[in-house]
Amino acid sequence: MLSLRSLTYLLTSLSITSAAWLTTRETACNNSPDLCSKAYNEIVHLGAHDSPFVRDASTDYSTSGNQYYNTTVQLSAGVRLVSAQVHESNSEWHLCHSSCDLLDAGLLSDWLKEIKTWLDENPNEVVTVLLVNSDDATVSELAAQFTTAGIVDDCYVPASTSTPPTTWPTLETIITGGKRLMTFVASLDTSTITTDTSYLMDEFTFIFENPYDNTNTSSFTCAPDRPTAVQNDVSAAIDSNRMALMNHFLYTVGAFDIETPDLTDINTTNSDSTSTAGALGQSLASCKSDYGKVPTFTLVDFFDQGPAIDAVDNMNGVTSPTGRTAVPARDTDDESASTWSKTSFEGVETLAEDVKDGQTPKLGAWIWAAGSWTFGGINLSGGNVLS
Ligand SMILES: *[C@@H]1O[C@H](CO)[C@@H](O)[C@H](O)[C@H]1NC(C)=O
Ligand SMILES: *[C@@H]1O[C@H](CO)[C@@H](O)[C@H](O)[C@H]1NC(C)=O
Ligand SMILES: *[C@@H]1O[C@H](CO)[C@@H](O)[C@H](O)[C@H]1NC(C)=O
Ligand SMILES: *[C@@H]1O[C@H](CO)[C@@H](O)[C@H](O)[C@H]1NC(C)=O
Repeated sequence: MLSLRSLTYLLTSLSITSAAWLTTRETACNNSPDLCSKAYNEIVHLGAHDSPFVRDASTDYSTSGNQYYNTTVQLSAGVRLVSAQVHESNSEWHLCHSSCDLLDAGLLSDWLKEIKTWLDENPNEVVTVLLVNSDDATVSELAAQFTTAGIVDDCYVPASTSTPPTTWPTLETIITGGKRLMTFVASLDTSTITTDTSYLMDEFTFIFENPYDNTNTSSFTCAPDRPTAVQNDVSAAIDSNRMALMNHFLYTVGAFDIETPDLTDINTTNSDSTSTAGALGQSLASCKSDYGKVPTFTLVDFFDQGPAIDAVDNMNGVTSPTGRTAVPARDTDDESASTWSKTSFEGVETLAEDVKDGQTPKLGAWIWAAGSWTFGGINLSGGNVLS
């Protein structure tokens, strides 16, 4: 597809000075010509929560995977925000689910390379990355990962790293400028951001979120939760010019309060219905009403279910999306017969200790606990974990 940049170049080299006739309708931005003239914050970006943590053959169909498909497939299907947790492991920065002993989706730099490859192949798309900085990587440590991935030149640089803008550029402007990766990190020591690293945007400087830890379709709310400066105060959140991120995924609470991504209610959770309680469409409409503007981002699990993108398209007024690739058929053959191929007994023991101490290990902590397995006397299905 002809990119806006090459189009601009073409027009310049042809000395076409009056190109008013050439409207942006001829080129799609984020899968629709109708979105080119929209400001980055005026549309809803569909987000894949915990994007690299997949429930497929590569993780033995882990019950704690948040997505069925990898980041590349997500982006090609229309996802425009991908989130991940960053952890330190053996002095490297990895994408892990709570503990790298249990689920390690590889190096942050490798994942960024995957995104870079996709960006290069899709020149009219603006993508957002949201990193949860679980082990407090410094600005320079994170920046080194971006450098290794060769993606720094693709990163959008905000006018200010400490104050959100009142208006964001349009998708068309961002695409023409060639800096199509928006990067937010929760959280960063903003005092250490330098000119060279100012593409790393501190999430809670620019964004507010509703609560993320929901276990019931009836518990979704639009009330701001983080940052605490705007907690439960919609007008303060909106007046601060922060963009809204609407978390919209559920956990199932299993034995010992262990939470895993919920599939039981997924058809409701990811539904585009605007009248069903707990549906993505309903929550988006409700938050739009509360905020007086659309939530800029929404994060979902199993994005292909619903499919969640229908609710987002409805909010964006997109009726004929272009350039999306449908997800491939899902290989579910081995889903119920998963094996413990990447066991790490040490990590399991640590987590069992956490449970004994009264903590609630979240989702990925039990990433491999898919069946009735016993490891050194620990029965992950229940049984004698705590005995
Ligand atoms: C992502 O998944 C698709 C299909 O499931 C596969 O063909 C592709 O190789 C994967 N890409 C990466 C970067 O893992
Ligand atoms: C979900 O919340 C509703 C309303 O508060 C309650 O009636 C229902 O029992 C809850 N469901 C579960 C599974 O906790
Ligand atoms: C969700 O809907 C699909 C399509 O109708 C159906 O095949 C699937 O079983 C449903 N899932 C659940 C958990 O109800
Ligand atoms: C583990 O515990 C579950 C629940 O109590 C039980 O059904 C299962 O048989 C146990 N598995 C093993 C291998 O002991």
